[in-house]
Amino acid sequence: MCGIAGYIGFRRADEVIISALKRLEYRGYDSWGVAVRHENEIRLIKRMGAIGDEKTYSVAEGNAGIGHTRWATHGKPSEINAHPHTDCSGKIAVVHNGIISNFQSLKEELESRGHVFSSETDTEVIAHLIEEFYKGDLREAVEKTIGRLKGSYALVVMHAEKDELVAARYKSPLVLGVGDDELIIASDVPAILDYTSRVVYLEDGDLLVLMKGDFEIFSDGRKVNRKVETIPWSIEDAEKGGYEHFMLKEIHEIPRVIEDTLFEYLSDDIEIDISFAAGVSEVTFIACGTSYHASLIGKHLIEKLAGIPVRVEFASEFIYHQPPMHRTLAIAITQSGETADTLEAMRIAKKLGARTLAIVNVLGSTATRIADHVLYTRAGPEISVAATKSFIAQLIVLYLVALKLSGMTKSEMEGLLDELRIMPELVKGVLEHEDEIRAIAEKLSDYGNMMYIGRGIGVPIAMEGALKMKEISYIHAEAYPAGELKHGPFALLGERTPVIASLTPDETYEIMLGNIKEVKARESIVVAVTGHDDAEVEKYVDHVIRVPRTDALFTAVTHSVALQLLAYHTAKARGCEIDKPRNLAKSVTVE
Ligand code: G6P
Repeated sequence: MCGIAGYIGFRRADEVIISALKRLEYRGYDSWGVAVRHENEIRLIKRMGAIGDEKTYSVAEGNAGIGHTRWATHGKPSEINAHPHTDCSGKIAVVHNGIISNFQSLKEELESRGHVFSSETDTEVIAHLIEEFYKGDLREAVEKTIGRLKGSYALVVMHAEKDELVAARYKSPLVLGVGDDELIIASDVPAILDYTSRVVYLEDGDLLVLMKGDFEIFSDGRKVNRKVETIPWSIEDAEKGGYEHFMLKEIHEIPRVIEDTLFEYLSDDIEIDISFAAGVSEVTFIACGTSYHASLIGKHLIEKLAGIPVRVEFASEFIYHQPPMHRTLAIAITQSGETADTLEAMRIAKKLGARTLAIVNVLGSTATRIADHVLYTRAGPEISVAATKSFIAQLIVLYLVALKLSGMTKSEMEGLLDELRIMPELVKGVLEHEDEIRAIAEKLSDYGNMMYIGRGIGVPIAMEGALKMKEISYIHAEAYPAGELKHGPFALLGERTPVIASLTPDETYEIMLGNIKEVKARESIVVAVTGHDDAEVEKYVDHVIRVPRTDALFTAVTHSVALQLLAYHTAKARGCEIDKPRNLAKSVTVE
């Protein structure tokens, strides 16, 4: 998730922009850059890594400028790929958030007309298109340019010859801060609050012209008025988008994360080239933590849909197995791409003859350099230590990989693809039940132990649910296949051990009901997670968490989001420090 800041007013633009970018640091970034208009020229700096102390960077004197913190999506993290990007003349500078999906064909078209590109980014095509359309009116040139773009964008553009910024928004946020004789445009409110609390939220399709002391908004070529709102939050609240914790904010971002990940790989058909799997006779997943649970779900999907045998290994244990892997596809799942055990297991898998695929959230991370092939999740940076949105994004990629490996025709998989396409709406349907989930969480918050159970795909759902609970609430939570309860864990059950049961609408449903009755006979409180149309289960359990009905395969998404909320609200009721649980780290770079 990149950050944008643009300024026009009476102050030094570089100082305002750098301080605004620092306010967006919470979003995560790998490089950054600032452009300032100075004596009819664009003056630019770009750097890798953190901004550090803003006083050390002076770009140039000037009262108009744009800046950007980049979280790499197209093209590795590097100074050249950092924004702002310029055209051939160096007179036009652009910063952009989002993904231009037709950038490759636009780039080839522009190159055929003599444009020379210096970066690997999709953004640079925007600068060159504007250059072609520019006839002295920047707004007109940007308007024509966005007519050629497919994908999502929030962009801010500047021309060397005029104190004016032009911004456009489509499916990527932009907010305008309206100060006294100064305007600041940014991708999020914290960047603005040092200067003003009066803001205008742009809408999709809006084009905004910022001049000294004034601004105009256009939609469909016509001038429109948008409401100026006053932000009541502090900067710290604003970073969390008004949510109390990053974890909750990140859970609420899941519908958008699913959209972004699907946008990357699913159009009319699944856009994943799986030639890397040609000739393999088995798959081995290697991963840690939440990514290990995503792998267990991946096993279920690939075995069920594609009929290929799958092993799942803890990366830290794989080191001691070292099986022959000549016809194996080793899939490493790691949101950070930097987990030491996963990296080591990938290197060993390669030595053992496996082909390697990494499913990663961080572009340019070490895992992407080790793997033969990479698929990216589009979760954006995750701040909370407990993984939520990155896990769901991993699942989305796994659905697509499993469907692609299945060899089903497009029409055979159409029903499942349709359900995937509405997954953002289904997750919103889960989030709508948050109040009920909170009420249940508050009842659970006094217990010291919990048991999560499921069958089939419900087992890894239970394992991830239990992991979330123990990570952030410090309640001891175990997960078991429901059929295993009577082989030991039954001894733990009783009125002081609530049981959380995931019921999936498949061949496991009836037998799960039987297991729940057995649990109830041991006097445990039972919370069932099930489809909204399940009228049967409430006869046997104490609480029901309802989620929209889906094919059983997709319950991994809907149930997991519900269990993330359950863990969050339990931890909150216990007064735990949710975003940074004790003893845990977001990225584990030691073995
Ligand atoms: C740490 C994090 C977990 C994460 C695990 C694996 O334990 O706290 O949230 O699931 O590492 O991380 P990875 O980046 O490889 O997915």
